[in-house]
Amino acid sequence: MSWDPRESMIEKRLRGVKKLAVVSAKGGVGKSTISAILALIFRERTRVGLLDLDAYNPSIPAILGIKELKIGEDKGIIPQYFEGLYVLSFAHFTKERATPLRGKELSDALKEILTATIWNVDLLIIDTPPGMGETTLELLRFFRDAKFLVITTPSLLAEKALEKEIELLGKEKIIGIIENMSERGVRFSDIDKAYGDTEMLLKSDVARDLKRITEEIWKKL
Ligand SMILES: Nc1ncnc2c1ncn2[C@@H]1O[C@H](COP(=O)(O)OP(=O)(O)O)[C@@H](O)[C@H]1O
Ligand SMILES: [Mg+2]
Repeated sequence: MSWDPRESMIEKRLRGVKKLAVVSAKGGVGKSTISAILALIFRERTRVGLLDLDAYNPSIPAILGIKELKIGEDKGIIPQYFEGLYVLSFAHFTKERATPLRGKELSDALKEILTATIWNVDLLIIDTPPGMGETTLELLRFFRDAKFLVITTPSLLAEKALEKEIELLGKEKIIGIIENMSERGVRFSDIDKAYGDTEMLLKSDVARDLKRITEEIWKKL
C-alpha cells in the first residue's frame, strides 16, 4: 500500500494515548454497554475519550443519553463533551440516517475523521462493530498499539467464535476476556432500565462488577 500522510497524522494525534478496544466475535454481547460503563468509571481517574465505531448501529449516544448530537470545531473536530467524557460516534456524522458505507469506504471515512480530530484525552475506549469481520479489522488498523478487551457470552457458539478471535488479534494484545451476562463474569442484570442515564448506569450490577476489574485493566494498558 502506498504511503498516506493522513495515517501518520492519526498516529501523531493519538500518540501517548492509551487505547482500549472493546471487541467480540459476535454481536449483541454487551460491547457498547461495557464500553460506556468503563468510560464512566475511568473518568474518575483520567481524561477519557469514547469512540463509537459501529456505523450501522451506533448505540453509544443512546446508552449515555446524549439527546443532541453535537461535535465542536476548532482547527479540527472536537469530540462532544458529555458528562465528563469526550464522545465521538459515527452518529455525529450520519445523524438519524443509516450509513450506506461499507468496508473500505467506511475506513476511508474514519481516516478523514481521525485525521481531523483533536482528542485531549489520556485514555481512548473504542467500541467496535459486531464481529471481527473485515470492516472491524480495517477500522482497528488505525489503532496499532491498542489493547483488546474481549467480550463474550456463555454459549458454545460464542466459545468457538472466541477461539478464532483470539488467534486473529494475537494473544499478547488481549488484556482480558469478559464473560458478560453470566454467573462467572458480569452478571445478567436489569441493565435496560439504566440506558440513557449515566447515574443509573454507574449504579447497575454491570458497573459494580466492572469496578472490580478496572484496576487490573488499568495496569495492563
Ligand atoms: N450484563 C447484562 N445483563 C443483561 N443484559 C445485558 C447485559 N449486557 C448487555 N445486555 C443486553 O444486551 C443487549 C446488547 O448490548 P450491547 O451493549 O448493545 O451489545 P453489543 O454492543 O455487543 O451489540 C442490550 O440491549 C442489553 O439489553
Ligand atoms: Mg454495540
